[in-house]
Amino acid sequence: MLEKYGHGGDLLTAAELYGGGSGVAFLDFSANINPLGPPPGVLELLRDSLPAITAYPDPGHRRLKSLLAESLGIHGDWITVGNGAAESMALLLLAAAPRRVGVVEPCFSEYRQLSEQFGAEVVSVQGTQEQDYRASVEQIAGLMEQVELLFLGQPNNPNGVQYALDDLRLLAQQAERCGTVLAVDEAFIDFIPEERRQSLLPELGVYRHTVLIRSMTKFFAIPGLRLGYTIAAPELAAAMTGKQVSWSVNGLALLAGEACLRSGRDYEERTRGLIAAERAALRQGLKRLGCEVPPGEANFLLLGLPAPWSAAALQEKLGRSGILVRSCAMYPGLGPGHIRVAVKGREDNARLLRQMEKTLRAGMGEA
Ligand SMILES: Cc1ncc(COP(=O)(O)O)c(C=O)c1O
Repeated sequence: MLEKYGHGGDLLTAAELYGGGSGVAFLDFSANINPLGPPPGVLELLRDSLPAITAYPDPGHRRLKSLLAESLGIHGDWITVGNGAAESMALLLLAAAPRRVGVVEPCFSEYRQLSEQFGAEVVSVQGTQEQDYRASVEQIAGLMEQVELLFLGQPNNPNGVQYALDDLRLLAQQAERCGTVLAVDEAFIDFIPEERRQSLLPELGVYRHTVLIRSMTKFFAIPGLRLGYTIAAPELAAAMTGKQVSWSVNGLALLAGEACLRSGRDYEERTRGLIAAERAALRQGLKRLGCEVPPGEANFLLLGLPAPWSAAALQEKLGRSGILVRSCAMYPGLGPGHIRVAVKGREDNARLLRQMEKTLRAGMGEA
């Protein structure tokens, strides 16, 4: 199985399964990374900064924190920098020490995995197909009464949809009432144009049980370096920092993060423009092939394959042709025929559509 470690983007496993040496030749739609690559100048800066690895990184992440604070319009006390959003989630779990954690399926598998790794029991509610795999606010609010911490993806992975700001407010109010930490995972929110973004960021001063988790690895295309952060009330932010292993965020990641934040709006706007246009075209193309595609707003699309195709069969056939897609058959709440694909540039998306059409036409898609 390509998702041997639970995630997409595993080029080494792909090479083991489908051949192809080191795996660099795969066209990878299984991880959701900005197709533009890192902002201009970041790779050159990293190359020039290699001698800096002879020094320890700043354990207080001060320069990056102050740039983040400036760009987000908040005080640096609210920010905790992590070795990827994944470490940020772990720090939150360590600081909040919940006995029970709530998740809204289908969702990013690390919510459950990390919670269980840290000894919490995980309880869930499930989204419905009619709501593009969102759960109702009532369901989520009910779940919050039973848990000390709840993870919610905004936009959610793998379906790419947002909850409306009014719904998030109701959930944040419920978090205040129940004393539950509402951990809103905004790992992909930078891909959404500001005017469409549904975020509680400006209201966190009121909702002090709400924490936002952000990733810099996807939007700035640096998943191999690892960089993420959280925005939380200063007491919780300090508790999270208190659980962090010193120097867990490496010096090159800090430098790259600073350069990404300084790279300016042009790269950000180009990314959002490209993703919006290419997602619409890719969605149309996939629907023409008979797939069911909820209208996601992120840089990936969830799709239900036409019967009798299984995710496993299509993934295998595409993998052998050099294209990787993410099976979603293992997500609770989804079925054996669900896959997720990243939105890439025009030519790459066209190659995916061509290869999918050829493969689906040739048949033999049963599990
Ligand atoms: C929804 C979601 N949140 C967080 C992460 C982790 O991001 P990072 O690479 O910053 O650890 C991922 C990675 O795939 C993700 O899909």
